[in-house]
Amino acid sequence: MAVLETKGLSKIYGKKGKGISVKALEDFNMTIKEGEFVGVMGPSGSGKTTLLNMLATIDSPSSGEILVNGKNPHKLKEDELAIFRRNNLGFIFQDFNLLDTLSVKENIILPLVLEDVKNKEIEKRVDDIATVLSIKNILNKRTYEISGGQQQRTACARALINNPAIILADEPTGNLDSKASFDLMSSLEKINQEKKATIVMVTHDAFAASFCNRIIMIKDGKFFLEIVKKSSRQVFFKEILDSLSLLGGGYNENI
Ligand SMILES: Nc1ncnc2c1ncn2[C@@H]1O[C@H](COP(=O)(O)OP(=O)(O)O)[C@@H](O)[C@H]1O
Ligand SMILES: [Mg+2]
Repeated sequence: MAVLETKGLSKIYGKKGKGISVKALEDFNMTIKEGEFVGVMGPSGSGKTTLLNMLATIDSPSSGEILVNGKNPHKLKEDELAIFRRNNLGFIFQDFNLLDTLSVKENIILPLVLEDVKNKEIEKRVDDIATVLSIKNILNKRTYEISGGQQQRTACARALINNPAIILADEPTGNLDSKASFDLMSSLEKINQEKKATIVMVTHDAFAASFCNRIIMIKDGKFFLEIVKKSSRQVFFKEILDSLSLLGGGYNENI
């Protein structure tokens, strides 16, 4: 079954007849199945963040719809939407978004504070996720005492702690060096494979994208092409680079 679906999704910034309007996304359709790890790529300004923000329910579509497990979150009232987000979506941002007054563990369990989850269950979940993400030894540290890579893996743990239906990530390796990027992407791959987490990740980094199972490329707000991993990550990496050269249009300005 599709966990996430967009139908004729469009976003126009600015109002008709009131100065300039920008078609940021146009008639965009995609279907994401449970357990998929999908990368969204495209040149700067192609509509990637616009798409992700609508999936995240941070922004609303101009037309078309988004379905999460068959339900359209944009039809919910504000208080229902907050609960929907908490139960269904996990977010990973480029700049980590951790609270530096809290320890790593406190940051991770933050989403559970609002829920009625028992202490024993919280401990079990933290232990489980921290093991997968190799951050068990830093759980009691403050966020300023750990590296950027460890901070991003902490943010991943926080995104995962309440078992969301979908994890949305916007350029999660954007502020990481190549070693930390590799570790983060290996962690996301592991989470996808072992926890069957469904992940949608926006990235302009072909190396990070090579960890995904499928890549959707967009250009000028429209679907451009799609490639699916068939064999090794190395082969997929090369295919992604080839497809990016087809995309053209200032792609390299983004790097
Ligand atoms: N809040 C906004 N108001 C007006 N135009 C916007 C806004 N956000 C993005 N845009 C425009 O929409 C297009 C797509 O932007 P964006 O989704 O941020 O692209 P990407 O993430 O692929 O770089 C661009 O032309 C951008 O200038
Ligand atoms: Mg963007």
